[in-house]
This record gives sequence, C-alpha cells and structure tokens, in this order.
Amino acid sequence: MSSISIIGLGNMAGALAGRALAGGNAVEIIGRDPAKAKELAAALSGATVGTAGAVPAGDIVVLALPYAGAAAVVSEYGDALQGKVIIDVTNPVAPDLQGFVTPEGSSGAQEIAKAAPAGAHVVKAFNTLFSHVLAAGPAEGRPLDVFIAGDDAEAKARVSAFIESLGLRPMDTGKLPMARALENVGLLELGLMTHSVKHTNFSLGITLLS
Ligand SMILES: NC(=O)c1ccc[n+]([C@@H]2O[C@H](COP(=O)([O-])OP(=O)(O)OC[C@H]3O[C@@H](n4cnc5c(N)ncnc54)[C@H](OP(=O)(O)O)[C@@H]3O)[C@@H](O)[C@H]2O)c1
Repeated sequence: MSSISIIGLGNMAGALAGRALAGGNAVEIIGRDPAKAKELAAALSGATVGTAGAVPAGDIVVLALPYAGAAAVVSEYGDALQGKVIIDVTNPVAPDLQGFVTPEGSSGAQEIAKAAPAGAHVVKAFNTLFSHVLAAGPAEGRPLDVFIAGDDAEAKARVSAFIESLGLRPMDTGKLPMARALENVGLLELGLMTHSVKHTNFSLGITLLS
C-alpha cells in the first residue's frame, strides 16, 4: 500500500484517486479551493483532505495540474516536498498541438525537477493515459501500460508498486530526460485523436512477443 497526496481536483486527480482508493492506498486530496477539495474527497469515499502549501501526508505526491502552473506550485510548496516522490503527469503541449511550451532540449518533468527541493525525486508517469481510460482500468483482458521515467531507482520502484496497486503495468523507460519521449507520446496521442482515431477511447502500450 502507498500513501498518496494528489494536488489538483480535475479529471486526472479524480481518476487517479478513484483507482488508488480501490487499490487499497491511502489518498489525500489537496486543492487551492478547500471547499472544492472537500467536495471531491466526499465523492471518493475514503479520501482525506489536505491543506494547500502544507507538508502533504503522502510519501508520493501527484501533481495533477496544468503544466503551466506545476513548477510554480512546486516552488510554493518548497521544503514541504522534501523527501517526497513527485509524480508529474503533465503534457506541456502548445495550444496548436504541434509542439511543446518547454525550453528546447528539456521536458516538463525536468523543468518541474528544477523547482523541487533537494531530496525530492520527480518521476514522470501517467501522462500517456487519458483520464477516462485510466479511470476505467484494464480493458478486454489487456494490461494498461504506464510509462515512467526518473533518475532515482528507489523512487521509480515506489511509483511502480503504486501503479501495480492500480491494476496497471509499469514500464520503466529510463532516466528523467526520457520524459521528453513520454511527452512526445502524449503529443502523438493528440495527433491520433485529431487525425485518425477521432476519439480518446484508446491507449498506447507494449505488446510483448514471445
Ligand atoms: N485529462 C487527461 O486525459 C490527461 C491525460 C494525461 C495527462 N493529463 C495532464 O494532467 C494534468 C491535469 O489535467 P486534467 O485534465 O486533470 O486538468 P483539469 O481537469 O483542468 O484539472 C486541473 C486541476 O488543476 C488545478 N490547478 C490549476 N492551477 C493550479 C494551481 N496553480 N494550484 C493548485 N491547483 C491548480 C485546478 O484547480 P481549480 O479547480 O481550483 O481550478 C484543477 O483542479 C495536465 O497537466 C494534463 O496535461 C491529462
């Protein structure tokens, strides 16, 4: 069992919180609007409500926020995130869906890591799963793959155990700079959504051939 704090109250927060509770994890919900946070926690039986800016209860802190505000939120928490594993789910995609808003050669996760206190470990995960796909979980007997990237092996092991508790399959892709590749997968999905698949009821994963 993991102890998770989720910062954000939107689609990804709700989907992750629901699956995390079903998987037997402790879940804390944190929002900038305490009334809204209470409302979401009440809808998810078993979740607690945390205080924005205070030390999160969870060992793993999920940033379920738009990329535009994520690094600033991490800076605001500052040392309150000391020692935490920080999961970055963001897709820092430009509004025209043709590229990224991150600096050339970097990724959202690497920019967020720059804002994190020493001793916190950022792991990219979940950005390649649409929130409703994540909420629904494994479909048609196939595992849903969650690609992860991060520099700290212990942090990735903890995130992998959390992913397994959700009934999903962790797929380590390497160190944090691989987040660039994962964010490109997010962009690829938006391209597929727009140009060929025409909906978002799909996921990308690995078929292991024997
Ligand atoms: N939706 C998907 O299918 C999907 C899939 C993969 C990855 N992602 C990524 O996941 C992240 C969240 O997406 P989402 O769809 O869950 O977004 P969303 O439904 O719009 O929710 C965003 C949440 O972030 C909160 N927020 C925004 N700025 C904040 C700040 N400065 N401090 C505290 N909270 C703040 C909002 O709070 P308020 O309610 O107070 O406005 C809202 O609860 C994004 O980075 C997105 O790229 C989304």
